[in-house]
Amino acid sequence: MTVTAVAVKLGERGYQVLVGPGARRELTGLLPPSAERAVVVTQASVPVEVHTGLPTRVVNIAEWEAAKSLATVDSCCRVFAAAGLTRSDVVVAVGGGLVTDVAGLAAALWHRGTPVVHVATTLLAQIDAAIGGKAGVNLPEGKNLVGAFWQPCGVICDTETLASLPAAEWRSGRGELAKYAFLGVENLDRLSLEEQVVACVTCKAEVVAADERERGRRMVLNYGHTLAHALEGAGLAGEPGGTATRRVLRHGEAVAVGLVFAAHLARALGRIDDARVRRHEELVASYDLPSRLPPGAEVEELIAYMGRDKKSQHDLTFVLDGPAGVEAVGGVEPALVARVLEELRSEALP
Ligand code: GLY
Repeated sequence: MTVTAVAVKLGERGYQVLVGPGARRELTGLLPPSAERAVVVTQASVPVEVHTGLPTRVVNIAEWEAAKSLATVDSCCRVFAAAGLTRSDVVVAVGGGLVTDVAGLAAALWHRGTPVVHVATTLLAQIDAAIGGKAGVNLPEGKNLVGAFWQPCGVICDTETLASLPAAEWRSGRGELAKYAFLGVENLDRLSLEEQVVACVTCKAEVVAADERERGRRMVLNYGHTLAHALEGAGLAGEPGGTATRRVLRHGEAVAVGLVFAAHLARALGRIDDARVRRHEELVASYDLPSRLPPGAEVEELIAYMGRDKKSQHDLTFVLDGPAGVEAVGGVEPALVARVLEELRSEALP
């Protein structure tokens, strides 16, 4: 398969996402013509080299979730200063979602906005994190609390870079893949890896183009995430090196549990039938992902975190499947949520 270009149609902030084996070799074509120098933000563990064709400085940020911080953004900006990076130059992020978030936010802040190109090297970053312009870091008080919408000027999803991805990263990425199956991306299992990435990127590009700032439709990309974020808040899920002291699930695994929970909740609200719930269960199982609450999950605690979800407005709001497809549904009764969560406690993790 050759490289496929998917357009994110956002007018003057629009850009191309290049997907396919070897796509990283097309990086220079995505750099802004004004750029005379570049800073590459990456991590020592990322085994991917890129060639910008420009005088380039490389900054290796620390590994693991604790590096997703304002302190790391600060250290990137100090390197930009040392490199003499101007607003017409370019930042190139090479890595997974942590790198694209940190570099994206640093680029958004440097000189009040400097171009950034993301070279996404994990499945999760290729199908989700690197596309759509969300850039954020964590505070001790919570994940992604400080951030900006800063669209990249191009994204590269080189599927060759996935060859060296550790098994745990694949599992986490598969949780996001499963999400897209319910957002209208059909027959993912019959597609090659490259075709799967293209299909998910195309879906995300269309949603982002319709609702860049998440005022409505973009919330569908949070399908499965309300419970996932609550599990992360409760310290039961998250990325390695974060604050999740009781962590048993990676982000994508928590999304998988969240998808099944959302299906059970949608059925309890009369929005979908048993067959559709089964479809969720089967799809998640086919990706070898968990579908039940991890040990130690407290229903009241999870509901408290769900009430603080950014979709919620003084009530419990979920993204749920239904006759018109997946959409945000507000005003869900806490007692019903508690009952459905109890349903998902009954079986052990696969
Ligand atoms: N990851 C969800 C979004 O980009 O909106």
